[in-house]
Amino acid sequence: MAKQDTIRTVKPCPRLEGEIILPGDKSISHRAVILNSLARGKAEIGNFAPGKDCLATVRCLRALGVEIEKKSKFGNLPAKVILSTQQTQQTQGTLAVSGTGDYGLKEADRVLNAGDSGTTMRLLCGLLSSQPFMSVITGDASLRSRPMGRLIKPLRSMGAEIWGRGEDSFAPLVIRGRELHGIDFTLSIPSAQVKSAILLAGLFAQGNTVLHQPIPSRDHTERMLKQMGVRIECEGDSISLTPLSNPLSPLSFRVPGDISSAAYFLVAGAIHPNARIILRDCGINPTRTGIIDVLIAMGAKLEIENERWEANELLADIVVESSELKGIEIGGGSIPRLIDEIPVLAVAGCVAKGKTVIRDAGELRVKESDRIAAVSQELSRLGAEVEELPDGMVIHGGEFLSGAEVDSHKDHRLAMSLAIAGLIAKGETTIAQAQSAEISYPAFWQDLVSLVPQACHSEGAK
Ligand code: S3P
Repeated sequence: MAKQDTIRTVKPCPRLEGEIILPGDKSISHRAVILNSLARGKAEIGNFAPGKDCLATVRCLRALGVEIEKKSKFGNLPAKVILSTQQTQQTQGTLAVSGTGDYGLKEADRVLNAGDSGTTMRLLCGLLSSQPFMSVITGDASLRSRPMGRLIKPLRSMGAEIWGRGEDSFAPLVIRGRELHGIDFTLSIPSAQVKSAILLAGLFAQGNTVLHQPIPSRDHTERMLKQMGVRIECEGDSISLTPLSNPLSPLSFRVPGDISSAAYFLVAGAIHPNARIILRDCGINPTRTGIIDVLIAMGAKLEIENERWEANELLADIVVESSELKGIEIGGGSIPRLIDEIPVLAVAGCVAKGKTVIRDAGELRVKESDRIAAVSQELSRLGAEVEELPDGMVIHGGEFLSGAEVDSHKDHRLAMSLAIAGLIAKGETTIAQAQSAEISYPAFWQDLVSLVPQACHSEGAK
């Protein structure tokens, strides 16, 4: 185990109650800082996602010559309303970005490091293909084993010069930026990262870019581009983008809370026998709310209150209470709307009565870990009956889970999902490599403790 590895212990607790202020949405934060870097003028991004993934994007953009400062206020207001002492660490989330205007980025004097962040690598790859300089981008061991061919193929058909390693163009990637031309392309994988990379390349290309997405994926890039003055039309399954004729307009806004982070508490509240949790300011963009639809279909008691808009994104407060869940089938077009929430939905499946079947989710095998194998293995250690399928899993629910030693596989979504399982498992659950939660939700453990004042949780290091 590496020196900084952390073990967390979670025990069942009699009651889960409280309010959570969510970290800013990771997908929206990446896009907000990238697009504002290209704008002409200054923008403030409030509630910027505090995890390591988005900080990797900031680091890369700074290396490309963008001035990005951290602030403690958003506009004239404190960066975040502080509801409790446990949540004060979330007051640090405002970034001031001084956009360079189109073609204002500079060649980096170092290799760009995307860490563990697929979104950083893929979105920047699209952008850098169109900029008039050389770039080299790499990442950690997990990211260097994730497929990049899905992205490089369409970018090359726009004229991009990109090279990767091995049969699926693994990182490190070398990019010689040049003038590109628009394409008409059908996305065979419903990936928002690939779609967004092509759109970023298309901003600087000659001629329009038209994308067809048989299964829609998250649409934050399209929404934000529109807000920043780009001509982008979304009709049916097609997106048509006109390249920039003027620089983007800066966009200052407060990033909605991350529904993918809310998912842990939505499931916790629904499966715990004595719970009521309020999640404030949660993004509920319809391309992301598969978790809500599935939990409601499983019988969860969820209320969505106080719906409102912020910079073309919908948000709301969500209240969840103890519920009796039943197993359901999850698959087809709903998968991209909940792909990152499947590990924690599998935990819900363990508690639900009957069978939960997850299919059409083969993409989980190429995330930060092979999430089909890792979730099946770790939940089985807790006594769950899980059958692995090539593209999903079958969970025979309704059995009691028993605390055990489990491992996050260095995957943030696994670490947090296993913590939620630990809340309802008999005895103690110890989670190795629990620090990986920092990738998307550094305050996760504090927020969890804030719901269980009975001190059902402790931390250790090895
Ligand atoms: C993301 C898209 C999804 C998702 C990832 C974030 C994004 O990945 O799993 O966590 O911000 O565009 P894919 O594009 O690979 O489906």
